[in-house]
Amino acid sequence: MAAHRGKHVPVLLERCLELLAPALNRPGAVHVDATLGLGGHAEAVLQAHPETVLIGLDRDTEALAHSRERLAAYANRVHLEHAVYDELPQVLTKLGFDRVDSVLFDLGVSSLQLDQADRGFAYAQDAPLDMRMDQTTGMTAGQVVNEYTAQELARVLRVYGEEKFASRIAGAIVRERAKAPITSSAYLAELVRDSIPAPARRTGGHPAKRTFQALRIEVNGELSTWERALPSAIDALKPGGRVVVLSYHSLEDRITKQIFAARARSNAPIGLPVELPGTGPTLKLLTRGGAELPSEAEVEHNPRAASVRLRAVQQI
Ligand SMILES: C[S@@+](CC[C@H](N)C(=O)[O-])C[C@H]1O[C@@H](n2cnc3c(N)ncnc32)[C@H](O)[C@@H]1O
Repeated sequence: MAAHRGKHVPVLLERCLELLAPALNRPGAVHVDATLGLGGHAEAVLQAHPETVLIGLDRDTEALAHSRERLAAYANRVHLEHAVYDELPQVLTKLGFDRVDSVLFDLGVSSLQLDQADRGFAYAQDAPLDMRMDQTTGMTAGQVVNEYTAQELARVLRVYGEEKFASRIAGAIVRERAKAPITSSAYLAELVRDSIPAPARRTGGHPAKRTFQALRIEVNGELSTWERALPSAIDALKPGGRVVVLSYHSLEDRITKQIFAARARSNAPIGLPVELPGTGPTLKLLTRGGAELPSEAEVEHNPRAASVRLRAVQQI
């Protein structure tokens, strides 16, 4: 476990701490880390705020076990829960918290998940096609690949993977699985590579990268969960509370932007001289003019940060 800690550098850590601080520098502050992972951001928050109570969620039981060990020194003010992040309202009720001061989402997969060959997330390592962040429940990538129709597969690859050759890849999958079920990640990666025209294989990283990302998003229902989770997290904030989001996929960032923007503007009919009660904005955008990007130095030091987009808001 310690080996993973060495390799994982929390993304945009200083900026996250800076954005969370005004909400957490208040008596009795409660912080939610909704994507606990290896506990890097969580540990830094606990260190920076010696009075703050932390609620950590993850749908991956291995991540929780890892973080439980890492955060053992803070056990008297830490609650760790195995949950999908759209279950935050139920978790808060269960733990007896009404509202919280801040919520951090660091979306996507952890380096623990990517590094563990047997989880099937990585196209570079051969493993059974699983890709579930929560291995206790739900459909695997193998089921998607072997049971979806060609049209459904093509849609997943096109929409979630932004894959130009989605139909060709889906067609090749359907042809191959008619001979024998596709069960290995290395075999799928090779099939994808062979379905892409040779000149296109030379650009944009490994040819199977987009397909694997798309399958992961489908298997874990990542976008629909995110659309439900973000509004509930905002609703759980105390006045002055803050939400910080790190996303790594353009569709996740678009959902974040739209949900924040809808609550940061007035819903009053245009032309009224004063705001009607209940129609004013409920959020203030802390990252104006679009999402914040990582510096070149951060990307050099931490390649995982390359595609990150940071957005943050404060409850008014
Ligand atoms: C990028 S990692 C977080 C890394 C963490 N910030 C750190 O510093 O170690 C994302 C984590 O969120 C978890 N996760 C992703 N989607 C989730 C969801 N819908 N509900 C709960 N946890 C989720 C993953 O299992 C993974 O452990």
